[in-house]
Amino acid sequence: MQSFLLLLISSLLWFTATTALDAGAIQDIKPRTCGNSSDAVPLFVVASQQYSDFYIATDVNLITAPVNRGYAFLGVGARVFTTQETSTVPFYELYSNSVTDHFFTISEVDRDLAITDGYTDYGIIAYIYPTQICGSIPYYQLFNPSVAEHWYTAVEVERDTMVAAGWSDEGIAGYVLDANVCSG
Ligand SMILES: *[C@@H]1O[C@H](CO)[C@@H](O)[C@H](O)[C@H]1NC(C)=O
Repeated sequence: MQSFLLLLISSLLWFTATTALDAGAIQDIKPRTCGNSSDAVPLFVVASQQYSDFYIATDVNLITAPVNRGYAFLGVGARVFTTQETSTVPFYELYSNSVTDHFFTISEVDRDLAITDGYTDYGIIAYIYPTQICGSIPYYQLFNPSVAEHWYTAVEVERDTMVAAGWSDEGIAGYVLDANVCSG
């Protein structure tokens, strides 16, 4: 009886220890489950009040063109991958010429719905994480229905300010690396 109890207790301890080990292991296996953050590049942001348009790109040439047309350069919004690194998923770009709106999504369902709504499929602009792993942070999605404009930000205060100003909070588009944290 005593040895049975001891066995029970030791199995319980073993179970607890293994569970704790698993939780620790999630942190430790980073190199294999995460993209190499050294490969992450800046995601540049431009926006135009005149066109009610927000646009992001990793390619500087795609940013200078709208800036030359009067878009404001808003800096680096996040860091993302340009190739599909471990655990990342495609971040699709869609554009509606009729309402001048750039829409970005990791959801193939939302991408296809937008295409049905008349948006043009511009393919993959980057690769980001679908869940909050590997030190990533939420990339918030907002929408202003009165001018049909999608807006994205990793800055919580910016999201809150926009929601207070009447923008719809459309949740989290995906998870990106902080613009201000250097890779390592
Ligand atoms: C990450 O990328 C950097 C730069 O490309 C490279 O030097 C480094 O070896 C890579 N690390 C891993 C774990 O692949």
